[in-house]
This record gives sequence, C-alpha cells and structure tokens, in this order.
Amino acid sequence: MDEANNKPVMRGAVLGLGMIGRHHARILASTPQVDFAGAVDPSGDVHGAVIDPDLVFASVDELLASGPIDFAVVAVPTEEHLAAVRQITQAGASVLVEKPIAASAAEGLELIEIVEAAGVKGAVGHVERCNPALIELRKRINDGQLGELFLIVTERVGPFPDRIRDVGVVKDLATHDLDLVRWLGGSPIASLAGQTQNRMGRPHEDLVLINGALTSGVSFNSIVDWLSPTKVRRTRVLGDRGMLVADTLTADLTFYENGAVGSEWGTTQSLRGVSEGDVTRYAIARREPLRVQLDRFLDLLAGAEDSQVVTLAEGLETLISAEAVLASAASGQTVAPSPAGS
Ligand SMILES: NC(=O)c1ccc[n+]([C@@H]2O[C@H](COP(=O)([O-])OP(=O)(O)OC[C@H]3O[C@@H](n4cnc5c(N)ncnc54)[C@H](O)[C@@H]3O)[C@@H](O)[C@H]2O)c1
Repeated sequence: MDEANNKPVMRGAVLGLGMIGRHHARILASTPQVDFAGAVDPSGDVHGAVIDPDLVFASVDELLASGPIDFAVVAVPTEEHLAAVRQITQAGASVLVEKPIAASAAEGLELIEIVEAAGVKGAVGHVERCNPALIELRKRINDGQLGELFLIVTERVGPFPDRIRDVGVVKDLATHDLDLVRWLGGSPIASLAGQTQNRMGRPHEDLVLINGALTSGVSFNSIVDWLSPTKVRRTRVLGDRGMLVADTLTADLTFYENGAVGSEWGTTQSLRGVSEGDVTRYAIARREPLRVQLDRFLDLLAGAEDSQVVTLAEGLETLISAEAVLASAASGQTVAPSPAGS
C-alpha cells in the first residue's frame, strides 16, 4: 500500500525502450504507487532510461523469470502491439497499450478479445487527453463557456521522426486528432473525408487533411503532416460565444471572446457576424501528461468506476476512423466509419 495515496502498489514493467518507452520507464520508476519491475527491449537501453541495468531485459520471458507483474506499458512499434499484448496478458498482466491500439482495426479487435479472454484490464495511451491545456479546454466546453459548438480544428504538423516505419501519418499521428475531436465534441464521428499525400517516397502517406462531422452536427477539420519544418500542435474550438485555442506544445489555453454586447448570437449578429472581444490566456497547472495517464490507469487497476482512461473500445473506434480516412482518400468519397467486423 502506498501510504501517501492510500492505493495499492502495483508491480509494472515497460515493453519497448524507444522514444516513448524511455519516458514510461522513467515515470514508472519514480511513481510511489508502482514497484518498477523493469523494461524489456531486445536492443537494450539505448537511451539510458533505466538506472539499474539489472532491470533491463532482452525478452518478456526474462522479465517474468524475475517475478510476476500486475501490468505492462506496451511501447513497442505499432505493428508489434498485438503480439506483445498476447504474450504479456497470458502471464496475467493488465496492459496500457500505446496509441494507436494496433496496426489495423482487425488486429485491434483481436487485441481486445485477447485482453478479455485473459481476464485482465486494458487501456490505450491517447495521452493528448492528459494534456493540461486540453483538459481545461474540455472542462470549459462542458461548463458552457463557448455556448453551442460549431467547429473543432486541429493542427499537428512537423518534421518526420525517422524511426517510424510501420504505419503512415494517419495511423501514427492523426489518431490523436480523431480521438480528440470525438472526446472534445462529446459525440462520435458520423462521416469524414480524407485527402492524403506521399511526398517522401515511403510506403505510407505523410500528409493528411480530414474534414468531418460528429453525430451532434459539430464540424471538424484536421491537418496532420510529417513535412513541415516546424512543430505545431494546436486545437481550436469555435462556438456561438467565442473560441478557445489550446497549444499542446506549451500547454497554453486562450479564450477569444465574441465582442458583441451580451455575447449572444442574436438577430443582429446573425446578420453581421461577430466582432473581436476580450482575449484571456489562462494560467494552467502543468502536470506531465504521461504521469496523469499512468495515474488514471492505476485507478483503473484499483477498480475505480470512472478512471478516465481511454478504453480499448475507444482506441479501436479511433483506429476504425483512421482506416475510414485512408479509404476515403483512396476512393475520393465521404465515408461513415463503420464498426469493427462489419
Ligand atoms: N502517445 C504518444 O504520444 C506516442 C509518442 C511516440 C510513440 N508512440 C507509440 O509508441 C509506440 C512506440 O513508438 P516509439 O516512437 O517509441 O518507437 P521506437 O522505434 O523509438 O521504439 C520502439 C522500441 O521497441 C523495441 N522493440 C521492438 N520489438 C520489441 C519487442 N517485441 N519487445 C520489446 N521491445 C521491442 C525496439 O527495440 C525499440 O527500442 C508506437 O506504437 C507509437 O505509435 C506514442
């Protein structure tokens, strides 16, 4: 028991010590509620993430030989998620799987069945939901600050991280946006149209534009690429009282209020449109998103009713939407993301 938090201590490990796994290892090793069992990576600890070299293992079997674990953070390349989850859940471990849940919706569905059959718990690491600016943005939307929502726009562009070989920008990066628009808008994606480009000559696309609508009627638009010479991470939500803009690189949130007297979308405004009003930048407590995500996952393991994790089913829904984007880009048609297996 972690006396300070009054929660059970869980023994956890990390699978994959790459760009994101190294951060998971650091966080697990420094969380009082976690007994860090170590990390598995056949390439070793190239980033020097694990202080005790005896806690770096070349295989899951070696890790398990050192003792049983309660959970694992699965941070291997996306195309290896399914095999890693199969192996570690057979040992009775729950899983926090990095996003996207798997390389394809079919594999994502299989992954969910494996987790259920093993009788363990699972969640997906759509860590943007733990970004302080986006948490605050969503709270303000739900409190009614923007009034009726019209539009959600996300921008996630920057240079190519050379290590990603198994999926394109739609599954690797735009899954963040497809998860966010639904989570912020509080409604599933009804339809979308995607346009992709492949400028780097890799097997997969490296730029995507997505236009879509939630079932609530809110429109959304996402621009995502690996081609831009600077990194931008911006989410803009527009409603009838103004606009909230989150910068998730700096965790800043700014409110642009409609200038019209009364801030209501009355008869006069509908004729003239809005004018510029007050601009407020909020001071937000900045907690590391991966820590927030781990806390939520530990709540899930401790049996909390509303742990706020991204469920495996939500992770699959997002991947189905990503595949719908690719299908739309290939066909030139607007499509409705359909449930797995249909
Ligand atoms: N949530 C986020 O914001 C975020 C950010 C980056 C990556 N990711 C996701 O995390 C996953 C890993 O991405 P990355 O950028 O860290 O990749 P990476 O290539 O930097 O690291 C992957 C590591 O896994 C190791 N590995 C391969 N097979 C393994 C196995 N069977 N068992 C143990 N280790 C194995 C590799 O040696 C490598 O060190 C991907 O699914 C990616 O989409 C998520």
